[in-house]
Amino acid sequence: MPPGAFALPKAELHLHIEGTLEPELIFALAERNRLTLPYPSVDALRRAYEFTDLQSFLDLYYAAMNVLRTERDFAELAEAYFVRAREQGVVHAEIFFDPQAHTARGVAFETVIDGLWSAVRESERRFGISSKLIMCFLRDRSAESAMATLDQALPYGERIVGVGLDSAELGHPPSKFARVFERALAEGWKTVAHAGEEGPPAYVWEALDLLKVSRVDHGVRSLEDPALVARLRDERIPLTVCPLSNVKLRVFEDLRRHTLGTMLDEGLVATVNSDDPAYFGGYVGDNFTAVAEALDLAPSALVTLARNSFEASFVDTATRERYLALLDAAQPERAAQV
Ligand code: ADE
Ligand code: ZN
Repeated sequence: MPPGAFALPKAELHLHIEGTLEPELIFALAERNRLTLPYPSVDALRRAYEFTDLQSFLDLYYAAMNVLRTERDFAELAEAYFVRAREQGVVHAEIFFDPQAHTARGVAFETVIDGLWSAVRESERRFGISSKLIMCFLRDRSAESAMATLDQALPYGERIVGVGLDSAELGHPPSKFARVFERALAEGWKTVAHAGEEGPPAYVWEALDLLKVSRVDHGVRSLEDPALVARLRDERIPLTVCPLSNVKLRVFEDLRRHTLGTMLDEGLVATVNSDDPAYFGGYVGDNFTAVAEALDLAPSALVTLARNSFEASFVDTATRERYLALLDAAQPERAAQV
């Protein structure tokens, strides 16, 4: 069992299930679904994982998920994630999925959600990992398409805890989706949004003011705006930070330059997450280990990050207390051994 922050009990709050599609599974699903891939081998595919920015990653991400066709494919994808997550100390996961990326190529919404849901239930039963699904809208598609997706999701409302906003950020501000999010809130869903990953602090303000988000996904560029930092701190709005993702997508040139430590020093409710771990070099425990080392974080900071993950999660109060007690019992000194 790996020691330290890697295995500290934690919640993962920023994880795209399609971003857990490992190259080996891409090849296995391509074979099962009789599809030809434009790469001769797993290694050749993995060698293509060199990104210059968010868009260069998204191009590959959307192309690769074309191998996901059946309910069984989606179930196996999520089951594989839960196996990894468990090894890395995850006891609770709030999982994004991108329905439009599947319905646009002819896969039914029902196929996607039934497959994911069967894995959600199975992971609770097998591993005791609780999880929730967050449906993301692709912000580089129209608001009308997002609204139609919301309509499709309504019959599955009980399986979905909230809605989010992802895909290419620049040029697609949160304000574009104000009406869709208003409706989601009226349906009783929570809201979150990617903002301030590549986009400016103004997008984070919009996410807060117009989309009424409970959390900001990424949000690293918030530090450019002191008034925004004050707002996030005062209202204790959590940020779901994804350190290895930020380096792979060149938001920061090096992990040692990452501002996660500054966020904690500023009193922000920062959490550590993996985003698209199959593409970015590690799952959430790996992210903890990497930042601990690169930023020389104290054991107490690592425990704070794990604690924040439960505080920022959408679990009920009793469950949150149970997870925080689990964290307290997990000998914080283990965090010193990363
Ligand atoms: N979809 C999957 N990963 C993403 C990211 N890091 N930013 C925006 N959209 C995404
Ligand atoms: Zn993301």
